[in-house]
Amino acid sequence: MKTARQYEVLAKTRYLSALLRGGVRPERLCLHKTLLPADSSLDAADCPAGGRDGLNQWLADGITEERPKRVLDLGCGFGATLFALARRMEGQFVGLTQSAFLVKTAASLAEKEGRANELTFHEGEFALLSTLGSFDAIVAVESLSYFDELAEAARLLGEALRPKGSLWIVDDWLRKPLPEEHTDVRGLCETWGRRRLHTAEELEAAFAGKGFQLVENRDLTPQVPALRASASPRSGWLRLAARRLPGRQLRSLAAAYLGGFHLDRLYAASLMEYRFSHYVLP
Ligand SMILES: C[S@@+](CC[C@H](N)C(=O)[O-])C[C@H]1O[C@@H](n2cnc3c(N)ncnc32)[C@H](O)[C@@H]1O
Repeated sequence: MKTARQYEVLAKTRYLSALLRGGVRPERLCLHKTLLPADSSLDAADCPAGGRDGLNQWLADGITEERPKRVLDLGCGFGATLFALARRMEGQFVGLTQSAFLVKTAASLAEKEGRANELTFHEGEFALLSTLGSFDAIVAVESLSYFDELAEAARLLGEALRPKGSLWIVDDWLRKPLPEEHTDVRGLCETWGRRRLHTAEELEAAFAGKGFQLVENRDLTPQVPALRASASPRSGWLRLAARRLPGRQLRSLAAAYLGGFHLDRLYAASLMEYRFSHYVLP
């Protein structure tokens, strides 16, 4: 519930910022990280381009190759990843997110592009997935880590994927287990409504346990901008704002930014991995 409220207010802020920057378009409305450009020595196909939309385009390249007919974006935000896909291939594209504002905006953008028949968006918790039918591919960008239990995520996704279906995950995982009292683990959990943070190893074990086969893991951490290794005056102000600002929405927004600060610190201390994982169901 806390996460839902937070995404409602975050989404409105992102929408307003896109509006002020010259227009509301799906590629300007990503809720995931803005990546740094990839190392120039790497092949362009091996990693996303920098910027906000590079990750969507890169995922869409990979998913399109498999020609799925029905694709789910779990925790779809404004649906930017699905728009990137729908612009390249025919199919049915379904998004699930908790925020009514995200769903309403994504649906109206689909309508504006003349794609309302292909792109549909649903408001609800992850558990709603079991009512949305089956899929040839599922993509989850910075959303799977919100599950309290990854085994439950693997079960739900395993039931929703058709045989030979594929799963595309990009998310933040701990490189090794950390105690829950760790300042940044605790800070992140408290501000983002998480019960705990998961390790990359736990992700692998949960999906292997439900019969998923790993096609590829790729460490995208070098493209994550993480600048704030130490406490900055800004974090003090954010902490105060998250407790004292008038109005739940403003406090929730301050808490969202404070959580981002804790995540940055985990990256700066090399404790976090931004990992792309591609699985298939046999
Ligand atoms: C960081 S945003 C990423 C959004 C989108 N994938 C993107 O890349 O722009 C996380 C998304 O996960 C969704 N989410 C988090 N917890 C959820 C839950 N319990 N049930 C449904 N959606 C959830 C949020 O509503 C939001 O859409």
